[in-house]
Amino acid sequence: MLIPVIIAGGTGSRLWPLSRSHYPKQLLRLNGEFSMLQATFLRLPADLRAVRPIVVCNQEHRFLVAEQLGDIGIEADILLEPCGRNTAPAVALAALQARQRDTNAKIFVCPADHAIRNPEALEAAIKTGYQAAESGLLVTFGIQPNRPETGYGYICMGESRGEHHLIERFVEKPDAATAQRFVEDGNYLWNSGMFLFRAERYLQELREHHPQMLAHCTHSLLQGAADLDFIRLDESSFARCEDLSIDYAIMEHTRDGAVVPVELFWNDLGSWQSLWDHLEKDGDGNHLRGDIISHGSSNSLAMSDERLVALLGVEDLVVVDTPDAILVAHKSQAQEVKRITDTLKARK
Ligand code: GDD
Ligand code: MG
Repeated sequence: MLIPVIIAGGTGSRLWPLSRSHYPKQLLRLNGEFSMLQATFLRLPADLRAVRPIVVCNQEHRFLVAEQLGDIGIEADILLEPCGRNTAPAVALAALQARQRDTNAKIFVCPADHAIRNPEALEAAIKTGYQAAESGLLVTFGIQPNRPETGYGYICMGESRGEHHLIERFVEKPDAATAQRFVEDGNYLWNSGMFLFRAERYLQELREHHPQMLAHCTHSLLQGAADLDFIRLDESSFARCEDLSIDYAIMEHTRDGAVVPVELFWNDLGSWQSLWDHLEKDGDGNHLRGDIISHGSSNSLAMSDERLVALLGVEDLVVVDTPDAILVAHKSQAQEVKRITDTLKARK
């Protein structure tokens, strides 16, 4: 059995002030009719959509998540984290839950912050990944890089095994010079952030590399409580997990990683720059949403909920107006928006 898993517990802090801790980006309709969470389900191949998914999110968002899933007719096991501990524990919880359903279950882990223009390309890649996962490999899906992006993981392709490769080396979020070297090397792919493996294999890796984390996750699920579709976790044990992503915790260390190269038109909508890249633009390269007037301005993104916003003779700006906060930033500073949310956190 292959179970879809959606990890949707991030805070999306680089999309402040649209993305807020009580309404993070994966629940926003950034790109049309559906939220990113809903779009993540809707692009799955039909046979996967027929399987009850596991969703891991923060307990603060439980009603929004349940409502958005209900709106597209999905019933799910919704695991509620009492606090964010990044993706390694989130995937561990999903793996434990999946193994409870079926000891041989495989999971297809999807982040909820992506836009994919050609989801049909995923179907064949998932089939290939499934075969590789059956043989015990931890499968990633690799995308040809086109710039030295430092926000992604890089995968060095090793021995070819037909339609997948063994992973020679996995490097999460390298510095700019290293990323540049990887792109020039030609043998590196970006990690798309989706994974496919036997639930039990992931748990074995955790047992080897982070036994405490596995113990805390197991305990938090055992001590947790079912409540309608929700599964609440025990807070005191879960909070003891180290804050670590699956990439640093497992993928950089496993000896059994594999990568399926896939030609996806894919974007991690993680920052204002990547959102601008992805959204449709007018002839001046502007994406303007809401009541916006623009003269002599170009390559900018402006959004307003209510007020009128006017751009005059500016370029490469991000202007986001919300009822209680306004962001005006240079697009090149998109990765730095987190500094604002860090400042806000420190103020509390
Ligand atoms: N449940 C849960 N709990 N989900 C989380 C948590 C958490 O504490 N933290 C993050 N997530 C979810 C996010 O909502 C997102 O959908 C997904 O996990 C990935 O987290 P990001 O924080 O967006 O990771 P990233 O983009 O910096 O890096 C990952 O994705 C890149 C591709 O987009 C890595 O896997 C990179 O290697 C990869 O290149
Ligand atoms: Mg991301």
